[in-house]
Amino acid sequence: MDLGLNGRGALVGGASAGLGRACAERLAAEGCRLALWSRGGEALERAAEEIRRAYSVEVATVAGDAADPATAALVAATAEKALGEIEIVVLNAGGPPAVEAAKTDPKEWQRSFQLLAITPIELATLLLPAMRRRRWGRVVSIMSSGIRQPIPELSYSNACRSALAAWLKTISLEVMADGVTVNGVLPGRFDTARVASLDQTRADRAGTTAGEVRAQFESAIPAGRYGDPDELGAYVAWLCSDLARYQTGTFVPIDGGSFRALP
Ligand SMILES: NC(=O)c1ccc[n+]([C@@H]2O[C@H](COP(=O)([O-])OP(=O)(O)OC[C@H]3O[C@@H](n4cnc5c(N)ncnc54)[C@H](OP(=O)(O)O)[C@@H]3O)[C@@H](O)[C@H]2O)c1
Repeated sequence: MDLGLNGRGALVGGASAGLGRACAERLAAEGCRLALWSRGGEALERAAEEIRRAYSVEVATVAGDAADPATAALVAATAEKALGEIEIVVLNAGGPPAVEAAKTDPKEWQRSFQLLAITPIELATLLLPAMRRRRWGRVVSIMSSGIRQPIPELSYSNACRSALAAWLKTISLEVMADGVTVNGVLPGRFDTARVASLDQTRADRAGTTAGEVRAQFESAIPAGRYGDPDELGAYVAWLCSDLARYQTGTFVPIDGGSFRALP
């Protein structure tokens, strides 16, 4: 199936590893020109080089911390300088710490809100005018199943991403007539460094092993396993395609069947 993405300019956040990297690979396989964004360093440059070599596409890199209020403007400007107008943006970065809801603190609320809500909102706001002018654009946000069913100990994520979802839904209504779609994906539990570290934290608290914690989670997932990041990347690439032009304002769980309620 040709997704019609060849030559499109795409900015992908959290692209040096995990889910963002998987999205970048799928978009590269479709011929997108890419700007990969993370906090930078060797991992980002290595990801860019590996993707260039594997897919023969143009790949630029952008370094910036999503928890820093100056980053959205820097990332938008650097990506546009490298690729010209950005037609696709995958909003994604790292996740916040896991703590009991009774133990959250104002400083971390501010950092998490910047990381998970303000930076992605500002970045999309900066990139949307060009998408609307061209009458084609895609905004896809990597969120969490926690916006449907809050996850214990992830209240920063549950709450800040819910705010982002409300903004994404609102803006999706404003930009659809200009050919721009805005959607979110809600990962359940995927096999990435972030989830391995969350499993380790939980294991340390419970006095067990990360393997035990993972086995417990997997036994509750109808698919019986964690997701492979490529299973999310493939869906994100489809959402970015022209074939998905009638889908907007949606938040789709990708979780091996974990979400039990009707939509
Ligand atoms: N994996 C899952 O099952 C799952 C489930 C629900 C939600 N999520 C959410 O999905 C997002 C991606 O998760 P993941 O599992 O792919 O994580 P990951 O494997 O740890 O990868 C995170 C990526 O984001 C970058 N990053 C981290 N902190 C950043 C920051 N402050 N600013 C800019 N870039 C940053 C990392 O690179 P650098 O460290 O080099 O910056 C890396 O490229 C996270 O927000 C996570 O909470 C994941």
